[in-house]
Amino acid sequence: MPIHPLSFLFLFTSLLIPSLISSSPVQDPELVVEDVHRAINASRRNLGFLSCGTGNPIDDCWRCDLNWEKNRQRLADCAIGFGKNAIGGRDGKIYVVTDSSDNDAVNPKPGTLRHAVIQDEPLWIIFARDMTIRLKEELIMNSFKTIDGRGASVHIAGGPCITIQYVTNIIIHGLNIHDCKQGGNAMVRDSPKHYGWRTISDGDGVSIFGGSHVWVDHNSLSNCNDGLVDAIHGSTAITISNNYMTHHDKVMLLGHSDSYTQDKNMQVTIAFNHFGEGLVQRMPRCRHGYFHVVNNDYTHWEMYAIGGSANPTINSQGNRFTAPDARFSKEVKKINLIHSKMWKVLFSVHL
Ligand SMILES: *[C@@H]1O[C@H](CO)[C@@H](O)[C@H](O)[C@H]1NC(C)=O
Repeated sequence: MPIHPLSFLFLFTSLLIPSLISSSPVQDPELVVEDVHRAINASRRNLGFLSCGTGNPIDDCWRCDLNWEKNRQRLADCAIGFGKNAIGGRDGKIYVVTDSSDNDAVNPKPGTLRHAVIQDEPLWIIFARDMTIRLKEELIMNSFKTIDGRGASVHIAGGPCITIQYVTNIIIHGLNIHDCKQGGNAMVRDSPKHYGWRTISDGDGVSIFGGSHVWVDHNSLSNCNDGLVDAIHGSTAITISNNYMTHHDKVMLLGHSDSYTQDKNMQVTIAFNHFGEGLVQRMPRCRHGYFHVVNNDYTHWEMYAIGGSANPTINSQGNRFTAPDARFSKEVKKINLIHSKMWKVLFSVHL
């Protein structure tokens, strides 16, 4: 039977549209929370049978595949939590970054990371070798992209870093993101057909602004100008998992203003992260939305670990809080753990 060209179009649109229109919050966040526990439980149950199992459902999903390098795009199906449906560049081509330069933010050279992330088509972006990329301006991503640092040591450092603004379906995995600086007062390209003027940026490691279906997994982040990962302006359907964060003041801001009520839509899962040495506050600091903070390891915080205002729901489960520093006696730790102005607490802490 001849296949009508239109059927491709229908297939294409029916694949894309559900992700594009579902950036509204899920009706019952508790179902997503339950789903996360189901994934964790299943991963733990398999520990005895899989030699490579760790009990971490995200890692066990791809690391147990000895051929993961041949099946890179399967990572997209390994997320848990609110960002679970972020497919990134799963259904697109592999793009290999071969050039670490970033000399022209308006006309990026083919082979550079910036040339990869601005494209309209879905792309799974990998790296030909170890490299340090010092961006000239913010890296403004287009939708349906994965940046996959597995197999190479990739540093995005010393310049502006990653911006996920009004786009959807982004996966950031396996990068070292550090020493991020402000950029701006410059033209920057965000798609093959468009570039525009950028004002001064915050200098975040990963800045999510009006973004949805975003998964930030397995990165190391440290020492940036503003936040390590900030999600604001109605961003939702986000999972931040397995990251190692160190040496930073304002770690993670989720919602930027008490009066910005559109942030009621925010739904974010923070899972299996290690909040490590040299961190001060905001792990995370939440406003308005629903935040599932689960199975994270907190080993350092100077002011407080989890905070919130504007009536967020923070569901904190199975986190481990140990502050080895002598300055933090158990009593002080309890006080410093939570910084709260009016929020619904669903807290089960093991001190
Ligand atoms: C996960 O396992 C725990 C501990 O055995 C159990 O209490 C919980 O109900 C399980 N959750 C799900 C969703 O399966």
